[in-house]
Amino acid sequence: MNGAVPKLEAVGLVKDFGGVRALDGVDIRVGNGELIAVVGASGCGKSTLLAIAAGLVPLTAGAVLLDGHPVAGPGPDRGLVFQSSTLYPWRTVRENVAFGLELRHLRKAEIRERVDGYLEVMRLQRFADHLPNQLSGGMKQRTAIARALATEPEVLLMDEPFGSLDAQTRSVMQEFLLDVWRETGTTILIVTHDVEESVFLSERVYVLSSRPGRVVEEIDVPFGRDRTREVLRHPTCHDLVAHVRDRLHVWAEAALAEA
Ligand SMILES: Nc1ncnc2c1ncn2[C@@H]1O[C@H](COP(=O)(O)OP(=O)(O)O)[C@@H](O)[C@H]1O
Ligand SMILES: [Mg+2]
Repeated sequence: MNGAVPKLEAVGLVKDFGGVRALDGVDIRVGNGELIAVVGASGCGKSTLLAIAAGLVPLTAGAVLLDGHPVAGPGPDRGLVFQSSTLYPWRTVRENVAFGLELRHLRKAEIRERVDGYLEVMRLQRFADHLPNQLSGGMKQRTAIARALATEPEVLLMDEPFGSLDAQTRSVMQEFLLDVWRETGTTILIVTHDVEESVFLSERVYVLSSRPGRVVEEIDVPFGRDRTREVLRHPTCHDLVAHVRDRLHVWAEAALAEA
């Protein structure tokens, strides 16, 4: 990232729940069009970080800035995708994807056109009239991503979006997310506990310590945007993954010792 104002930035972000500190001075930058990952153990504050960035949870100190301006609440400039499906079970795939657009009272024809476009991007056309309970886990997550993208947010916030999928589906979805990112140019912040996923997908990885979450390392991933799963065989990738795992291992041991 160059000297430009980041699209999304956390500056000295602190979050306390009651007397318990969940995030302790987190600094993260996401440049326009970047795909950035935050990786950390369960309970280190990843979801909290994302919820604050989404404007759903208030922060205790520090700031989250969008284009340099403090985030004051939820907004259409940020789309959200969660770990498990949050689709409306009574709405078809098409109707789920249209949801955010209907709220904005766009014309029917325009909604249809946009929804068709994102169904195509997400390879969901054949499933447009299915209900969520007729879909596989991967298809549900694709629908959730399509729904988030349909409102054309400036930033897509993803909270362990593939965490509930089996390993094979997850790896297909990861490649797929890279495709969608290249195709749409959307700025993406993804949080995950999956180290390989964080390295494979992102241009930069922020490693969070266990509670309270703190950035203990910031790693540039040198694979470029046109990467494929081939990079997973690359020694540089193995080294990066092993390095991050070692960092997290130390924190996991400390957390167990404390418990
Ligand atoms: N609403 C809440 N009230 C109290 N504590 C919370 C709340 N949400 C999260 N926490 C605590 O904050 C810490 C971070 O949680 P979370 O952000 O969900 O971590 P992660 O997503 O990395 O697993 C955990 O210890 C969790 O118990
Ligand atoms: Mg979480």
